[in-house]
Amino acid sequence: MNSNTPSVVSTDLNPEKLPAHVAIIMDGNGRWAKKRLLNRIKGHEKGSETVRTIVRTCREIGIPILTLYAFSTENWQRPKSEVTALMSLLKKFLESEKTEMLDNNIRLNAIGQTERLPENVRKTLYKTMDLTKKNDGLRLNLALSYGGRSEILRMVKQIAIKVKDGHIDPDLITSELISEHLYTGDMPDPDLLIRTSGEMRISNFLLWQIAYTEICITDTLWPDFGKDEFVQILKDYQRRERRFGRTGS
Ligand code: IPE
Ligand code: IPE
Ligand code: MG
Repeated sequence: MNSNTPSVVSTDLNPEKLPAHVAIIMDGNGRWAKKRLLNRIKGHEKGSETVRTIVRTCREIGIPILTLYAFSTENWQRPKSEVTALMSLLKKFLESEKTEMLDNNIRLNAIGQTERLPENVRKTLYKTMDLTKKNDGLRLNLALSYGGRSEILRMVKQIAIKVKDGHIDPDLITSELISEHLYTGDMPDPDLLIRTSGEMRISNFLLWQIAYTEICITDTLWPDFGKDEFVQILKDYQRRERRFGRTGS
């Protein structure tokens, strides 16, 4: 199938009501491994296969933007061996998916403090982003060393400097201006946020952007998550009434 052809995957989803932006907190790799008496790293490896499946599904269905929480600013505090393994897995993922992204018109983007990533990972990331920058199919955003609070702090500093230098009048600071100064500045807010593994929390993800996002939390561990459940969640999303503070009618 040509990547520009609208989706014909048989999911009975309403193509008119697809979310424009889906964000996912991919949680539960460690628990998946623990249940099997395996090293946590094995869970991360299996989880990266789920990433592949979900990226493919988004492309087939025709979802324009997918944002995946892959590594938080707080995740740097995990044991060094786990951080190193996650970084090398990320590099491996970028290398193995490069052809698929190029062949399928996927544009890779990263949000977060990418400057904190190890140099070899950063280079591979920037190279892949550059190679895919003209693609206009699925936009795949990886949240890497991402934290919502540090993103907000960065935005405040940027705006403060512009005010100080006389480029922005404080009276003209609007919600739109704030959104534009976030990593997600050129994207719509997520319509749907999914968290796997059952935790009822946001864990510092997209704090500003999820003001009116529909939330779905599933108990499924990320390595066990797949296309069928994802499509089910999208169907459930399509049945919801989004009111944005107004009345139903
Ligand atoms: C998510 O799985 C992956 C990252 C946060 C990098 P976890 O590693 O958090 O898995 P659990 O929550 O311990 O099961
Ligand atoms: C959130 O998961 C971060 C990612 C999925 C990358 P965590 O496992 O780090 O979150 P907490 O610690 O359970 O809140
Ligand atoms: Mg976790």
